[in-house]
Amino acid sequence: MDDIGRSTLSTSLRSRHAYTLVRRFIKTGIGFLAAGLLVGLYMLTQRELFGVWPHPYLRSAHMHAVFLGFVMFLILGVALWLFPRAETGDTRYRPERVEAAYWILTLSTSARFLGEVARAWSDADGLRWLVLLAGVGQVGGFAIYFFTMWTRIRPVGSHLREAKGERF
Ligand code: HEM
Repeated sequence: MDDIGRSTLSTSLRSRHAYTLVRRFIKTGIGFLAAGLLVGLYMLTQRELFGVWPHPYLRSAHMHAVFLGFVMFLILGVALWLFPRAETGDTRYRPERVEAAYWILTLSTSARFLGEVARAWSDADGLRWLVLLAGVGQVGGFAIYFFTMWTRIRPVGSHLREAKGERF
Protein backbone atom coordinates (compact mmCIF):
# COMPACT_ATOMS: atom_id res chain seq x y z
CA MET A 1 0.00 0.00 0.00
CA ASP A 2 1.35 3.46 -0.89
CA ASP A 3 1.64 6.41 1.54
CA ILE A 4 -1.64 8.01 0.41
CA GLY A 5 -3.50 4.71 0.89
CA ARG A 6 -1.97 4.23 4.33
CA SER A 7 -2.84 7.76 5.41
CA THR A 8 -6.43 7.43 4.10
CA LEU A 9 -6.83 4.15 5.98
CA SER A 10 -5.46 5.61 9.19
CA THR A 11 -7.74 8.69 8.87
CA SER A 12 -10.78 6.49 8.28
CA LEU A 13 -9.94 4.20 11.25
CA ARG A 14 -9.45 7.32 13.41
CA SER A 15 -12.83 8.78 12.45
CA ARG A 16 -14.63 5.43 12.85
CA HIS A 17 -13.12 5.23 16.35
CA ALA A 18 -14.31 8.78 17.07
CA TYR A 19 -17.87 7.99 15.93
CA THR A 20 -17.96 4.85 18.09
CA LEU A 21 -16.97 7.02 21.06
CA VAL A 22 -19.67 9.58 20.17
CA ARG A 23 -22.32 6.86 20.29
CA ARG A 24 -20.85 5.51 23.51
CA PHE A 25 -21.02 8.92 25.21
CA ILE A 26 -24.63 9.41 24.09
CA LYS A 27 -25.87 5.93 24.99
CA THR A 28 -24.09 5.96 28.36
CA GLY A 29 -25.77 9.34 28.97
CA ILE A 30 -29.16 7.77 28.28
CA GLY A 31 -28.28 5.04 30.81
CA PHE A 32 -27.53 7.71 33.44
CA LEU A 33 -30.82 9.45 32.59
CA ALA A 34 -32.72 6.21 33.22
CA ALA A 35 -30.93 5.68 36.56
CA GLY A 36 -31.54 9.32 37.59
CA LEU A 37 -35.22 9.18 36.65
CA LEU A 38 -35.72 5.98 38.65
CA VAL A 39 -34.35 7.66 41.76
CA GLY A 40 -36.56 10.70 40.97
CA LEU A 41 -39.62 8.48 40.74
CA TYR A 42 -38.70 6.76 44.02
CA MET A 43 -38.29 10.14 45.78
CA LEU A 44 -41.58 11.41 44.38
CA THR A 45 -43.47 8.30 45.46
CA GLN A 46 -42.00 8.48 48.96
CA ARG A 47 -42.84 12.17 49.23
CA GLU A 48 -46.38 12.07 47.84
CA LEU A 49 -47.60 8.72 49.14
CA PHE A 50 -45.76 8.46 52.45
CA GLY A 51 -44.93 12.07 53.32
CA VAL A 52 -41.18 11.30 53.41
CA TRP A 53 -39.15 14.20 52.04
CA PRO A 54 -36.18 13.21 49.87
CA HIS A 55 -32.87 12.60 51.56
CA PRO A 56 -30.28 15.19 50.41
CA TYR A 57 -28.01 12.36 49.20
CA LEU A 58 -30.78 10.94 47.00
CA ARG A 59 -31.44 14.42 45.62
CA SER A 60 -27.74 14.80 44.86
CA ALA A 61 -27.56 11.37 43.20
CA HIS A 62 -30.63 12.21 41.08
CA MET A 63 -29.36 15.67 40.16
CA HIS A 64 -25.87 14.50 39.17
CA ALA A 65 -27.19 11.56 37.19
CA VAL A 66 -29.48 13.75 35.09
CA PHE A 67 -27.25 16.82 34.76
CA LEU A 68 -23.74 15.42 34.74
CA GLY A 69 -24.51 11.88 33.62
CA PHE A 70 -27.06 12.73 30.94
CA VAL A 71 -26.74 16.41 29.94
CA MET A 72 -22.92 16.59 30.12
CA PHE A 73 -22.34 13.20 28.46
CA LEU A 74 -24.60 14.30 25.61
CA ILE A 75 -22.67 17.56 25.26
CA LEU A 76 -19.29 15.78 25.34
CA GLY A 77 -20.47 13.25 22.73
CA VAL A 78 -21.94 15.84 20.40
CA ALA A 79 -18.84 18.08 20.74
CA LEU A 80 -16.65 15.13 19.78
CA TRP A 81 -18.80 14.67 16.69
CA LEU A 82 -19.21 18.34 15.67
CA PHE A 83 -15.87 20.02 16.21
CA PRO A 84 -13.45 20.09 13.28
CA ARG A 85 -11.10 17.15 13.00
CA ALA A 86 -7.62 17.48 14.51
CA GLU A 87 -5.15 19.04 12.11
CA THR A 88 -2.45 16.83 10.65
CA GLY A 89 0.52 16.94 13.00
CA ASP A 90 -1.65 17.77 16.02
CA THR A 91 0.05 15.89 18.85
CA ARG A 92 -2.39 16.90 21.56
CA TYR A 93 -5.59 15.36 20.17
CA ARG A 94 -5.52 11.58 20.45
CA PRO A 95 -8.66 9.40 20.39
CA GLU A 96 -7.11 7.21 23.14
CA ARG A 97 -7.08 10.25 25.42
CA VAL A 98 -10.77 10.91 24.81
CA GLU A 99 -11.44 7.23 25.41
CA ALA A 100 -9.54 7.44 28.73
CA ALA A 101 -11.68 10.48 29.65
CA TYR A 102 -14.83 8.50 28.73
CA TRP A 103 -13.89 5.58 31.01
CA ILE A 104 -12.80 7.79 33.91
CA LEU A 105 -16.02 9.85 33.69
CA THR A 106 -18.24 6.78 33.32
CA LEU A 107 -16.69 4.86 36.20
CA SER A 108 -16.49 7.86 38.52
CA THR A 109 -20.03 9.07 37.74
CA SER A 110 -21.38 5.53 38.31
CA ALA A 111 -19.43 5.21 41.57
CA ARG A 112 -20.62 8.61 42.71
CA PHE A 113 -24.25 7.80 41.86
CA LEU A 114 -24.24 4.41 43.62
CA GLY A 115 -22.19 5.78 46.52
CA GLU A 116 -24.59 8.70 47.08
CA VAL A 117 -27.65 6.47 46.90
CA ALA A 118 -26.03 4.19 49.50
CA ARG A 119 -25.05 7.22 51.65
CA ALA A 120 -28.78 7.90 52.19
CA TRP A 121 -28.77 4.77 54.39
CA SER A 122 -25.18 4.52 55.58
CA ASP A 123 -22.42 6.68 57.04
CA ALA A 124 -19.70 4.08 56.48
CA ASP A 125 -16.22 5.54 56.03
CA GLY A 126 -15.67 3.47 52.90
CA LEU A 127 -18.68 5.10 51.24
CA ARG A 128 -17.56 8.61 52.17
CA TRP A 129 -14.19 7.96 50.51
CA LEU A 130 -15.84 6.36 47.52
CA VAL A 131 -18.02 9.43 46.92
CA LEU A 132 -15.10 11.82 47.43
CA LEU A 133 -12.72 9.91 45.16
CA ALA A 134 -15.46 9.56 42.54
CA GLY A 135 -15.82 13.36 42.59
CA VAL A 136 -12.06 13.72 42.10
CA GLY A 137 -12.33 11.27 39.17
CA GLN A 138 -15.09 13.38 37.61
CA VAL A 139 -12.91 16.51 37.78
CA GLY A 140 -9.97 14.57 36.29
CA GLY A 141 -12.13 13.11 33.50
CA PHE A 142 -13.35 16.55 32.43
CA ALA A 143 -9.80 17.93 32.59
CA ILE A 144 -8.48 15.18 30.29
CA TYR A 145 -11.40 15.58 27.87
CA PHE A 146 -11.05 19.35 27.48
CA PHE A 147 -7.24 19.26 27.44
CA THR A 148 -7.47 16.79 24.54
CA MET A 149 -10.22 18.64 22.67
CA TRP A 150 -8.63 22.08 23.07
CA THR A 151 -7.02 22.23 19.62
CA ARG A 152 -10.20 20.95 17.94
CA ILE A 153 -12.10 23.95 19.30
CA ARG A 154 -11.34 26.29 16.41
CA PRO A 155 -13.16 27.89 13.52
CA VAL A 156 -13.26 26.19 10.15
CA GLY A 157 -13.80 28.48 7.22
CA SER A 158 -15.41 31.17 9.35
CA HIS A 159 -12.10 33.01 9.84
CA LEU A 160 -11.87 33.35 6.05
CA ARG A 161 -15.37 34.84 5.95
CA GLU A 162 -14.48 37.09 8.89
CA ALA A 163 -11.42 38.31 6.97
CA LYS A 164 -13.79 39.34 4.16
CA GLY A 165 -15.69 41.53 6.64
CA GLU A 166 -18.57 39.20 7.59
CA ARG A 167 -19.51 39.31 11.26
CA PHE A 168 -21.31 36.48 13.08
C1 HEM B 1 -34.20 15.33 32.96
C2 HEM B 1 -35.15 15.50 33.86
C3 HEM B 1 -34.90 15.99 35.25
C4 HEM B 1 -34.03 16.93 35.72
C5 HEM B 1 -33.04 17.76 34.92
C6 HEM B 1 -34.23 17.01 37.16
C7 HEM B 1 -33.51 17.85 38.00
C8 HEM B 1 -33.71 17.93 39.36
C9 HEM B 1 -32.98 18.81 40.26
C10 HEM B 1 -31.93 19.81 39.84
C11 HEM B 1 -33.45 18.60 41.51
C12 HEM B 1 -32.95 19.26 42.79
C13 HEM B 1 -33.86 20.37 43.17
C14 HEM B 1 -33.48 20.92 44.55
O1 HEM B 1 -32.42 20.64 45.09
O2 HEM B 1 -34.30 21.64 45.09
C15 HEM B 1 -34.46 17.59 41.43
C16 HEM B 1 -35.15 17.12 42.50
C17 HEM B 1 -36.15 16.18 42.42
N1 HEM B 1 -36.58 15.54 41.29
FE1 HEM B 1 -35.86 15.80 39.42
N2 HEM B 1 -35.20 16.15 37.53
C18 HEM B 1 -35.66 15.50 36.40
C19 HEM B 1 -36.66 14.56 36.33
C20 HEM B 1 -37.38 14.07 37.38
C21 HEM B 1 -38.45 13.10 37.32
C22 HEM B 1 -38.99 12.48 36.02
C23 HEM B 1 -38.90 12.90 38.59
C24 HEM B 1 -39.97 12.02 39.11
C25 HEM B 1 -40.60 11.10 38.42
C26 HEM B 1 -38.11 13.76 39.46
C27 HEM B 1 -38.29 13.84 40.81
C28 HEM B 1 -37.59 14.68 41.63
C29 HEM B 1 -37.83 14.79 43.07
C30 HEM B 1 -38.89 14.04 43.87
C31 HEM B 1 -36.93 15.73 43.55
C32 HEM B 1 -36.77 16.18 45.00
C33 HEM B 1 -37.67 17.36 45.22
C34 HEM B 1 -37.71 17.72 46.68
O3 HEM B 1 -36.70 18.22 47.21
O4 HEM B 1 -38.75 17.45 47.28
N3 HEM B 1 -37.20 14.45 38.69
N4 HEM B 1 -34.59 17.21 40.10
